[in-house]
Amino acid sequence: MYQVAADKINKRQPLDTMDALDIFAREGDWHSAYLTSRVKNLTAWEVKEAHEAKLRQNFPEADVKICDSYEEIKRTDKIFDLVVIDNNLLGTTHVEHFDLYPQLFRILKPRAFVVQNVIPDPYMYRPMVADEVQKRRKEFYSSSSDIVPLPYIIRRYHILATKNGHIVRWDHVSPWNGGGVFTHMMEILHA
Ligand SMILES: C[S@@+](CC[C@H](N)C(=O)[O-])C[C@H]1O[C@@H](n2cnc3c(N)ncnc32)[C@H](O)[C@@H]1O
Repeated sequence: MYQVAADKINKRQPLDTMDALDIFAREGDWHSAYLTSRVKNLTAWEVKEAHEAKLRQNFPEADVKICDSYEEIKRTDKIFDLVVIDNNLLGTTHVEHFDLYPQLFRILKPRAFVVQNVIPDPYMYRPMVADEVQKRRKEFYSSSSDIVPLPYIIRRYHILATKNGHIVRWDHVSPWNGGGVFTHMMEILHA
């Protein structure tokens, strides 16, 4: 649920001044819309052609692209004030949003906001966690366990930003669905 994120971020920088990217857009009308319906310009990426017509209908002024976002993030020359990362939570080809990093930093304006979902305990969300998901979570968070406490997760993003020439100036976490998923919003500056 991105309503909290929309209100918190809007207080720091008005959403209606922002160029935004919905990186996993689907038809755009679930959670992302709390944010994306309020921005100045919207770019929306989605891999499934089946979602294109409804996505365009829901956001007639958006720049919609049917593409693989993991590839598009490497080649786009656009930069954004706001990036919304509403990935599938159960994927195993790309686990969570991890493969978007560190490329994500190259598509941010000098001051930008990122909204993403983080999962401290994947077993709260699903009883069985695939081996590749366990492995990737440990790698990405530099953790000996695939259960990663929220403060540790947040610290990892600060470290990741610093390693890539950025700093996290502000962040906030709020429960997303009561099922162990949290919305993590960050304000990121070029260092
Ligand atoms: C959780 S849904 C997004 C919901 C959307 N943000 C909303 O609020 O309506 C995730 C979407 O990501 C898309 N997706 C999955 N892998 C993708 C990829 N590699 N590139 C682009 N989109 C992808 C899925 O097809 C799905 O529509």
